[in-house]
Amino acid sequence: MTGTGSAPWWQGASVYQIYPRSFADADGDGVGDLTGLDHHLDHVADLGVDAIWMSPVFRSPMADNGYDVSEYCDIDPVFGDLATFDTLVAAAHGRGLRVLLDWVPNHTSAEHPWFVDSRSSRDSVRRDWYYWRGGDPATPPNNWRSNFGGPAWTWDDTTEQWYLHLFLPQQPDLNWNNPEVQVAMHETLRFWLDRGVDGFRMDVVHLIGKDPALPDVPERLVDRHIAGWYDDPRTHPLLRGIRSVLDEYPGDRVSIGEVNLRDPRRLAGYYGDGDELHLVFTFRGMDLGWDAAGWARLIDEVGRDLPAQAWPAWVLGNHDEKRVRTRLGSLRRAEVLTLLALTLRGATFIYAGDELGLADADVATDRRVDVVGRDGCRAPLPWLREPPHGWTGATPWLPFPPDPQQHSAEAQTAEPTSTWHLYRDILAARRVSPALRLGATTRRDAPAGVLAFQRRFGDETRTVVVNFNDSAVNVPLSEPQVRLVDTSRAPGGTTYDDVVAAESAVLLCPAHPPPLHGELDLHESAPGVGEA
Ligand code: NOJ
Repeated sequence: MTGTGSAPWWQGASVYQIYPRSFADADGDGVGDLTGLDHHLDHVADLGVDAIWMSPVFRSPMADNGYDVSEYCDIDPVFGDLATFDTLVAAAHGRGLRVLLDWVPNHTSAEHPWFVDSRSSRDSVRRDWYYWRGGDPATPPNNWRSNFGGPAWTWDDTTEQWYLHLFLPQQPDLNWNNPEVQVAMHETLRFWLDRGVDGFRMDVVHLIGKDPALPDVPERLVDRHIAGWYDDPRTHPLLRGIRSVLDEYPGDRVSIGEVNLRDPRRLAGYYGDGDELHLVFTFRGMDLGWDAAGWARLIDEVGRDLPAQAWPAWVLGNHDEKRVRTRLGSLRRAEVLTLLALTLRGATFIYAGDELGLADADVATDRRVDVVGRDGCRAPLPWLREPPHGWTGATPWLPFPPDPQQHSAEAQTAEPTSTWHLYRDILAARRVSPALRLGATTRRDAPAGVLAFQRRFGDETRTVVVNFNDSAVNVPLSEPQVRLVDTSRAPGGTTYDDVVAAESAVLLCPAHPPPLHGELDLHESAPGVGEA
């Protein structure tokens, strides 16, 4: 599989996030599944990413679409079973794709046998696996609010106490202060590591450490989403424990932390001394939008404030946010930010469907599923132009995104100037370039509204110029350059004439020596298929 020299594969990796319910449906029940995913793995491999990450596929009552796990060591029947999972992993590995799961450590489902046991009696041996507190049934034990609204506490009549849930009442928080919880959760990691998975995205992992006193939060923070600012030092030893489990295994198994803090100075601590998370999402890129100065600041802060050896994880979209095209109100701009995110130092995460140029689906009130309105970005992927768009059988669980005539896999792969081909070209250029995968970043002076930087690894350099302005700009560079990719669709291999079109980004390489064959003949380079 892909990697540059002895560097772990994940450092400059591109990861494709799949929302399994919405990717592809093989059994015709209107909900995506693992066999459907398997049937469409060539789409992913052709795109040229290094890895897939699947949102949770564990057993779940689906109160939060799988982020409420009732059994960590099994596959939910809606997605398949352990045999289909093993088949999928083998098929992905056979195509040079790593496989990442989405581990949910902060909370289980209320239907998890651990919680069922815990809530059964104050004397349960698992009582202390969750946070139970007594008191008056009318007054929650503290002022914490759930990230989904309302108090973070639910009164349980069986034992007449409150339990804590930072998300839905169906998602009680695990008490990681209890060493038995740590051991049990470590075992769930080993279960999947033993089956050959390459790592985990770790759901709101910064929330797992808690002061057992559960003190009130300051009044000014009460109405802010707790996941957006919570940063308790007790999480760090727990992360070191989790990391030591991954380190028991060969093959650079990776941990990617969903840490919803925005300031890189606060993200820095989650890398520890290289002994906590391998990668931590840099979510601020999703807040920024179309803002040259904001991106310049963020790139500088990440370069300055993360530990020198730390690798950022860039992300423009996921299953919780409006799609990047919808947020920016422009496919052209979304493509520009994609070139930017895929040429920055670090791993980059692509949300499935963004490569088709999808916008959010318009979900009528009577078809809404999610408690906090995240359905639009979770709509099924249209594989074919014509209805039912490759989803034969029951009507899919959500309506399709708009315009499958243009924005389906069939249409996008057929049209050489499509978003799909642009993604593919950027990923191909990245895959063969040590500078883009691993190189250091130097920002270059640039005119107002323009962001320019160079990546360098050894003697190899790549330059990126992003023009946020609505008119073309002149950005002369010190040496002659050739375009590898230009979002305005100027062909790869053409000489860079110092001009970047309006709302466009270019990826350049020095004209001398000429680019490698593989960089210009982008479509011939497969994603490391068959490499060891
Ligand atoms: C973050 C996940 O991305 C989101 O989808 C989920 O609802 C919450 N964590 C709770 O698990």
